Amino acid sequence: MRIVTKSAIQTKKIAAKIAKQIIQSRPHKKHARAVALVGELGVGKTTFTQGFAKALGIQHRMVSPTFLIFRNYPLGKGGFGEFFHVDVYRIHDAKELASLGFKKILGNPENIVLIEWADKIRRILPKDTIWIELRHGRKETERTIAYRR
Ligand SMILES: Nc1ncnc2c1ncn2[C@@H]1O[C@H](COP(=O)(O)OP(=O)(O)OP(=O)(O)O)[C@@H](O)[C@H]1O
Ligand SMILES: [Mg+2]
Repeated sequence: MRIVTKSAIQTKKIAAKIAKQIIQSRPHKKHARAVALVGELGVGKTTFTQGFAKALGIQHRMVSPTFLIFRNYPLGKGGFGEFFHVDVYRIHDAKELASLGFKKILGNPENIVLIEWADKIRRILPKDTIWIELRHGRKETERTIAYRR
């Protein structure tokens, strides 16, 4: 599926829709729900995350966790327990995440894990990861969002 968005607000709305579909679905039995964001610098991955997190009921303003690699936020009711916002921009190999307990995070069915620059750690992500690719459009505030699960 491919969607054109013409503003940051519209991108957040699309992200919110996807987030709602996920919380309405049942958790996977064996591992976390993973959402993989791909796209070049400044294309809108964190903006997308802001819309996504808000739809999950998270009040915090999402900033890029680049220096922390990830941040976690508790979720309210429903089958999921925590939301993890991960940014692996500074990671060169998936192995570097092992020391941060990332395997355990991905292995917990109660987690929703959204990863910016996810292509860097593609090999350790679950098979049913939702892949979302953002690209710049023709105009300044235009983006295309390709969505695949
Ligand atoms: N249609 C659009 N969708 C998303 N963001 C847009 C759009 N049009 C303009 N923008 C702007 O583009 C910028 C995207 O920045 P953002 O931090 O979300 O990108 P990013 O992909 O997370 O960057 P980084 O690679 O540094 O993590 C924001 O300033 C946002 O307002
Ligand atoms: Mg970002």
